[in-house]
Amino acid sequence: MTEPTLREKAKSYLTLCYRELNKQDLFDKRWEEVEQSIRDRGMYELLDFELDYGTKVAWRNSNKCIGRLFWRSMEVMDQRSVDSMEAIFTALFEHIDFAYNGGNIRSTISVFNAHKGIRIMNPQLLGFAAYEQEDGSIIGDPKHLRFTKECVKLGWAPKNGAFDLLPIVIKKEGEAPAWKEIPDDIITLVSIEHPNIKAISDLKLKWYSTPIISNMTLEVGGIEFMASPFNGWYMGTEIGSRNLADEDRYNLLPVVAKQMGLDIRDKNSLWKDRALVELNQAVLYSFRKAGVKIIDHHSASKQFMQFMRQEAKEGRDVTADWSWIVPPTSGSTTQVFHTEMEDVTHSPNYFYQENTWG
Ligand code: ARG
Repeated sequence: MTEPTLREKAKSYLTLCYRELNKQDLFDKRWEEVEQSIRDRGMYELLDFELDYGTKVAWRNSNKCIGRLFWRSMEVMDQRSVDSMEAIFTALFEHIDFAYNGGNIRSTISVFNAHKGIRIMNPQLLGFAAYEQEDGSIIGDPKHLRFTKECVKLGWAPKNGAFDLLPIVIKKEGEAPAWKEIPDDIITLVSIEHPNIKAISDLKLKWYSTPIISNMTLEVGGIEFMASPFNGWYMGTEIGSRNLADEDRYNLLPVVAKQMGLDIRDKNSLWKDRALVELNQAVLYSFRKAGVKIIDHHSASKQFMQFMRQEAKEGRDVTADWSWIVPPTSGSTTQVFHTEMEDVTHSPNYFYQENTWG
């Protein structure tokens, strides 16, 4: 099958957009305009409401996301006219602050111009550095080992802590990358405490408030927005079962289990499982205590089932990637585990992109 042309992609998105927004009466005139632009210039621009709706449908089509019940509520910061590096940094800091919203996190996307070669080099706007020690061990988030090295190459001074936020690094085609430290006053780190196991609080773990993905391409109507950072709020297991627990991330299960006094040589003691539950409880407890919005996996699963019913009612098939929708912990206790899903990719959508580095 050959890749559809820009004209075909534009037509298929605009048809969907005008149909779902009940603007069919405006379609013909608009299509004529778009077709003309593609013919004359090989490109076209989305109108504000077309882009706005596209970001939302792209979320609705994101097969790996369990949080899609709220797809209509994406806040869109249209930054397509922003040009200078300075103004891009300002817009990104604004995004961090607006999305955080004093803890009542808002799902937000900032869309930068698709035709100026703007790229954000960070995988997420917020993320912790990693430093390799002489003995080969790593302090920080191993996920960012290579990216941290890039930052240091660019002149960022390593700080050698376990939870150091990386600077934001951006690039424009044909220009050298530039970095800036995120201003302190827009950063919220949550200290992880357990409600009754003090030994877990003693580990002094932290996590950042908002997951703002910045290395995916938003594709709407054939236009590819390579710089379009977007965020939701965390589901607890992302932090408790993966970021802090995976062996190639913070790898804290043995540490937590030891703090809990469990025998980590005895597989039958289920020490990993016990440590996971307590770590997850600590994450949920700490975010709630800090007033930062977070959702537990049981509620998220319920919301996803509601999303599936809502979509069915509106006559659409839900596509989903079961292996991502099912939470990494206690899968079978959630209804999504017992639900069949079809992993078919529709447009608009968010797609992975290659790193700009390494
Ligand atoms: N899993 C990623 C992380 O732990 C974030 C992915 C997006 N998550 C979200 N709740 N919107 O940082």
